Amino acid sequence: MNLNAPRGTKDILPEEAERRRALERTFAEVCERYGFGEIRVPTFEHTELFVRGVGDASDIVRKEMYTFLDKGDRSLTLRPEGTAGVARAYIEQGMSSWPAPVKLWYNMNMFRYEKMQKGRYREFWQLGCEIFGSACPQADAQLIGMLVTFFDDLGLDEVNLEINSIGCPACRAAYHQALRDYYAPKLKDMCDDCHERFEKNPLRMLDCKEAYCHSLAEEAPAQLDYLCDDCKEHFDKVKSYLSMMEIPYNLNPRLVRGLDYYTRTVFEFVSSHVGTQGTICGGGRYDGLIREIGNIDVPGVGFALGVERLLLELDAQGIPFGKAARPDLYIASFPSTAANALDLAQSLIRSGLKVETDVMDRSLKAQFKAADRMEAHYVLVLGDTEVSLSRGKLRRLSDGSEQDVPLTAVGTLLHDYRKKLASAKENDRQSTLFKL
Ligand code: HAM
Repeated sequence: MNLNAPRGTKDILPEEAERRRALERTFAEVCERYGFGEIRVPTFEHTELFVRGVGDASDIVRKEMYTFLDKGDRSLTLRPEGTAGVARAYIEQGMSSWPAPVKLWYNMNMFRYEKMQKGRYREFWQLGCEIFGSACPQADAQLIGMLVTFFDDLGLDEVNLEINSIGCPACRAAYHQALRDYYAPKLKDMCDDCHERFEKNPLRMLDCKEAYCHSLAEEAPAQLDYLCDDCKEHFDKVKSYLSMMEIPYNLNPRLVRGLDYYTRTVFEFVSSHVGTQGTICGGGRYDGLIREIGNIDVPGVGFALGVERLLLELDAQGIPFGKAARPDLYIASFPSTAANALDLAQSLIRSGLKVETDVMDRSLKAQFKAADRMEAHYVLVLGDTEVSLSRGKLRRLSDGSEQDVPLTAVGTLLHDYRKKLASAKENDRQSTLFKL
């Protein structure tokens, strides 16, 4: 039997799970501050939803979907992305009758049959947001602002925002023609995929990774020169709102994104650290998607962040975000006081503290070693005398200082210490945020 996890998947062990939980919690808090509600949709959907939603010219649909027939002969697909499923739920659940805009966020695993490499997996997680019902550029700009807030909360910098507008169906026709005119004489030397893209969606040729095709993108006509007045005005407003919020961006006329549903604004946050898979987050407007799958006109805009790439980026920037909290206290004991230590730990943990104690009958020396390894803030040695007097010496490991305290006061002391550390950290954060 093969005991390896399937290629492109991985086990998530406690240390990483802890960091992910912290990331997810921070993201959920940011979403809450911006007025988003959480949505969870099924892991698999009818295949047709992704074919129509994501688009049959996209690499995702052409090559990367995990599609299977169930026992009732229905073609189902493990979700390769979140937007199509969330849009399907918007229609099915009648959210168009909710007060607009409808703002949803999600935290879901996705499945794509891709070539494995650092930052690229076959099962990966996305944190995403979608806004349905607003065609206004404020919605695009606020989503980007929200990402900036999230990165700030994580302590992440050096991620660059790239933006572009890929227009609407009206102005795209002329642009597609310009692209076909540009690529037609070169097509014979281009890859097979580009031949297909030339027919179905020449915009995607700009995104081809094959060396020769890639080299041609540089000189290709830019969509920005073909935008209709409405699309141009929309994009100008997005840019001016970003400038007003002091969010720096790089205008990238070659940015097209890998999914076919986009219209107008597209954007990515890119890092220089995560090797070739530097795109941490991608998003944009998709005003035609709901009509494509549900026959009603509802504009939409959203983004998704790749959790694995975010974690790689935090590592690359040496940010300890989400590392497990240090224990407030380690209670060292002897066989005769092990039960008292267990009991004291139980009440302190119930009061909300993180407390470790020995459950392996180890020597005092080994227990001190464990306390050091866990970087406990304090150690309390609970011997027979301490138990009989109901007092003990609370030793702070950072400086070796000791306090002789009643055991009943230990909880209050540790809670106070925790508050002091948290408030010092918050002061630091505020002073960098407001440059005090
Ligand atoms: P996407 O660009 O395909 O967009 O994916 C968004 C993010 O998911 C990427 O920027 C990347 O960080 C991460 N990601 C994608 N594929 C992989 C992979 N194989 N392994 C690890 N991470 C990956 C979407 O999925 C759109 N649904 C985003 C969106 C939402 N647009 C509007 N609303």
